[in-house]
Parts: sequence; structure tokens; C-alpha cells
Amino acid sequence: MKKYAQIFQGTAFSSKSPKEIQILKDYLFCINEEGMIEKVVAPEDEAYQYLLDTYADQTNFHRLAEGKYFLPGFVDLHVHAPQWAQSGTALDIPLYDWLNTYTFPLESKFSNLEFAKNVYRDLVSTLLANGTTTALYFATVHKEASLLLAEICAKKGQRGLVGKVVMDDPEQNPDYYRDSDTDKALKDTEEFILAVKELAKSVKQGVYPVVTPRFIPSCTDDALKGLGELADKYDTHVQSHCSESDWAHGYVKERFNQNDAFALHDFGLLRDKSVMAHCNFLNDDDANLFAKTGTAISHCPISNAYFANSVIPIAHFHSKGVEIGLGSDVSGGFSPSLFDNVRQAVMSSRMLEDGVNPNLHAEVRGLPSSRITINEAFYLATAGGGASLSLPIGKLEENFVWDVQVIDTKIASAKLPIYNEEEDLIDIFQKIMYLVRPENIREVWVQGELVHSR
Ligand code: GUN
Ligand code: FE
Repeated sequence: MKKYAQIFQGTAFSSKSPKEIQILKDYLFCINEEGMIEKVVAPEDEAYQYLLDTYADQTNFHRLAEGKYFLPGFVDLHVHAPQWAQSGTALDIPLYDWLNTYTFPLESKFSNLEFAKNVYRDLVSTLLANGTTTALYFATVHKEASLLLAEICAKKGQRGLVGKVVMDDPEQNPDYYRDSDTDKALKDTEEFILAVKELAKSVKQGVYPVVTPRFIPSCTDDALKGLGELADKYDTHVQSHCSESDWAHGYVKERFNQNDAFALHDFGLLRDKSVMAHCNFLNDDDANLFAKTGTAISHCPISNAYFANSVIPIAHFHSKGVEIGLGSDVSGGFSPSLFDNVRQAVMSSRMLEDGVNPNLHAEVRGLPSSRITINEAFYLATAGGGASLSLPIGKLEENFVWDVQVIDTKIASAKLPIYNEEEDLIDIFQKIMYLVRPENIREVWVQGELVHSR
């Protein structure tokens, strides 16, 4: 029988479909040298006992203790790495003012590589400690600091997809924080793509360059067009913000007489590997265009409560076949935890369904059929994120990577309320999703490597 690099034994939760959880009770996960799940073996399978007999007393065999469970690592589809330095603050004004008052001044400081290194190291460690094994990052306009973020992800073992942000329009961006001109923005982006591709050659878990127009308001037509061409030339991921708030959505309508989705598409920016943040104000034509091009939505429920003027109808867009994952949007969203965002995604959807204005009659207060379940929110944070990025991540299945969090429900400082040894595993899953804190996340593995333990 084939030799495996590692075998893990324990109970795992993984998405079977957007609405269904698969419970893998006491399974064996056989991992190869590349960190891929080569074989998933159920206790009733013929090979199970043989594998136990062969591996159980070896150092590459890991058996979960009682009260511990495997979850797939989380995929955060929207993080502004520099904004970690202001997380938890600056949430008192609308998007346009927030960008100009707090965010652009902060991001401009990342020309200083020492400052960037401090913030980025802390952030990547924090995300790993919160179970995020893959993150799609906006860095800043600075090419060097953006590359530094990719290098820090590579070194700390996180799967990082990193974008040097483009904001070249002198009319829309402050002089102290923008690309000096359009040609330089495109040249820096191309050099950044090549540098990250070079770095990727030696990174087991992968590191990827991302074409990143900040959002339409910050970019000239020439930059948007050039970025679409670069994405095509190098077959990269693409990210931006799309129809986020009344102001941002309205600005694009005014400039192009169409919505963000069609404008981005005209510039070649909606591709299978495109991920658009927020998308609260997509209409059905926009959503159909997303489904047709394979463009994904990064749903950022905490951030939306502050900046999006609305709750996005996730259930509706899912029903139209749009790929959707979850984003923290640090620091528009204050929390680096996708557990927190899973919880908010469920709560926001319930508020959308019921409505929130008590002065309205129940019949007209909300938007029917808008709720999503905790299973669906978990899907967004895991398999949905993986599908959005077109990577084999987010599920504990054969031919997916071994990216997992080991959740301990029994630690003294954050014990979950599980009193019955025979408790239904689906109830334990729900308690994990609603109650876990970083203390409960005892180990994090990426591509078969241990990258965090406590
Ligand atoms: N739109 C343009 N830039 C940003 C940003 O940094 N955060 C959010 N939430 N929206 C944006
Ligand atoms: Fe954002």
C-alpha cells in the first residue's frame, strides 16, 4: 500500500453542498508530500484497520483527543492588510469620508517598509490564529510593501493572494496617496505580478499576484483597461470593490451610465478568477453577468453594517448561481475573525428577511426568503471561498489541500457548553460556529504544515 506523509484521525465537518454539512465521524485523512488529501477513509472502509495498524504508533500519525474536531481552514476573500493598524476604530463616518479622513492617510504610511513589516507580520499571524488559512489581500499602492506582504505570507505559511492597489486618477485621489501616473501604475503592477510569480516558485502553499483596481472611482479608464489586459496576459486573479454603497454605486452610474458590473466587464475585469467585494447593489442583470463570467462575490457582513447602507440579498444571488465567499474587510469590518463574520452573515440575513422598521406592518417590513442558515454561512467561509478563487481549498475531500483548524471544545478558558458525551454532532457543529473564540483554535495547518499552535 502507498506510503503517506501524514495521517490524521478524528471527526471533521465539511460542506457537502451550500446548505448541507457532511459529518465525517472518526475518519482517517491521508496526506501526501504535497500537502494534499490523497485518501479519505471511513471507519467502515476495508483499509481503515490496516492503516491504523501500519501508522498508529508512528510520529506522522495524529489522532485528535476527545472534544477536538477538524474544520477546513477559512478563506477570507477580502482583507485590507494595511488597515489592520486602525481595526476597531474609525467607524463613525460614511465610506467616502472614511476613506479620506482615516484610511488614505494610514495607507500612505506603507511607503515605510519597517512600519509595513510590523503591521503585516502581526496581521498574518492574527489571521492564522483565527483559522484563516487563505486570504485575498489588498495591500497599498506601494509595490515594495505589497511584495513584502506576499513574502510574509509565504514565510508564515499562509496562502496569500496579494494585490498592489491601483488608484491613479488625480481628480479622485489625494496627491499624497496615489499612483504618480497611469503608466507607472501599470508598470508597477506588471513588475509586482512577475515578482510574486517568481516568489511562488519556492512556496509550498502558494502565493498569488492579484490585479487590484481599488474601485472604479479611484481609477482612470486607461488604468482599468490596462489592468484588464494584464489580468488576461498573466491569467491572474482580479479583485475590486463593486456597487458597495449608495455613493460608490451612484458614482459609477453617473460616470458610465451603467452599473459597476457591466463597466468592470467592459474593461475585461470580470473573469473566472475575479472576486468583487460587497456587491450590495447588484441587480439581476449584474448577478447574471457574474454567474456567466464566473465572477464571485466577497460578502463582508460586518463591514456592510457600517458602510453599505443595506443588507445584500445573499440567498437570492446564491439561487442565481453566483459564487459567493466571505470577507472580513478589515478594517471596514472590525474583526479579523471569519467566525464573527459567519455569525453576522446569518444575523444580517435574518434582519433582511424580517425587516427592521417596527413602524411598518409585518407583511411589508422585510424581504421574504432572505435568510441563510449557519450551514450556508459556513459554506461561504470555506468551500464557497475556495470555489470563488478556483483553488482546491475549503473542503475536507480527496484532492483538496490539507488546510484545517483543530477546534478544542474543552479548554478551561473557553469551554463550550457540551454536557452530554452523546450530543448530536450537528449540535456540536453549531456550538462551534457560534461560540468558538481564538483560544479554542489549537492548531492550524496549511498544505500539510503546522503553521499555528497554542
Ligand atoms: N471602497 C474603496 N476602498 C475601500 C476600502 O478600503 N474599504 C471599503 N469597505 N470600501 C472601499
Ligand atoms: Fe474593502
